[in-house]
Amino acid sequence: MKFFIDTADTAEIQDLAPTGMVDGVTTNPSLIAKSGRDFLQVIAEICEIVPGPVSAEVAATDAEGMLREGKRLCEIAPNVAVKVPLTWDGLKACRALADEGRMVNVTLCFTANQALLAAKAGAAFISPFVGRLDDIGLDGLELISDIREIYDNYEFDTEILAASVRHVGHVMECAKIGADVATIPPSTLKKLADHPLTDKGLEAFLKDWAATGQTILKSGA
Ligand code: E4P
Repeated sequence: MKFFIDTADTAEIQDLAPTGMVDGVTTNPSLIAKSGRDFLQVIAEICEIVPGPVSAEVAATDAEGMLREGKRLCEIAPNVAVKVPLTWDGLKACRALADEGRMVNVTLCFTANQALLAAKAGAAFISPFVGRLDDIGLDGLELISDIREIYDNYEFDTEILAASVRHVGHVMECAKIGADVATIPPSTLKKLADHPLTDKGLEAFLKDWAATGQTILKSGA
């Protein structure tokens, strides 16, 4: 399973990249607004830090406009994935960009039928929003499961990119279902390594080790 990080904060990306866990990055207009920075500049910087797919979202709502913006975004770096909304115009733009060999991430997916359309439009990624469905009392993980079943039935290459991931439980469940990718906020990604028994065990080992009076690296080594 690949991990993308869901942020436009380059400091956070720099911090996490050396862990080897960052297979890609997703941004959206809200994350760009939060960064307070120039969109094209931020995407260029992220693409230099992370060699994997970096999603950059169009702002136009008509297919022609999305296509023009998508092509401009692709000029930034070869690892840009153009993000388009799951509308008929978005699907049209997806088809045209995919036919030109560009990576497209179709976003704002809330039903399995929408995911089916995105796959047929040649999307490299479909982004079902798990957390936002949970927020309105629906089951976001069930959507991931339905899409997995449909994509497997027809051997679609489109990767399921679980988005709107809100907690570590979402990551584990998406992995069990077989999502190809989860895009995870940096704070949640960091929590994946946490367990109180890990902390307690380490504390005890360090105490016992200190009592031996030994060192692994002898002085001068
Ligand atoms: C990423 O591609 C999505 O835009 C993001 O995961 C949405 O997350 P949110 O629902 O927490 O805003």
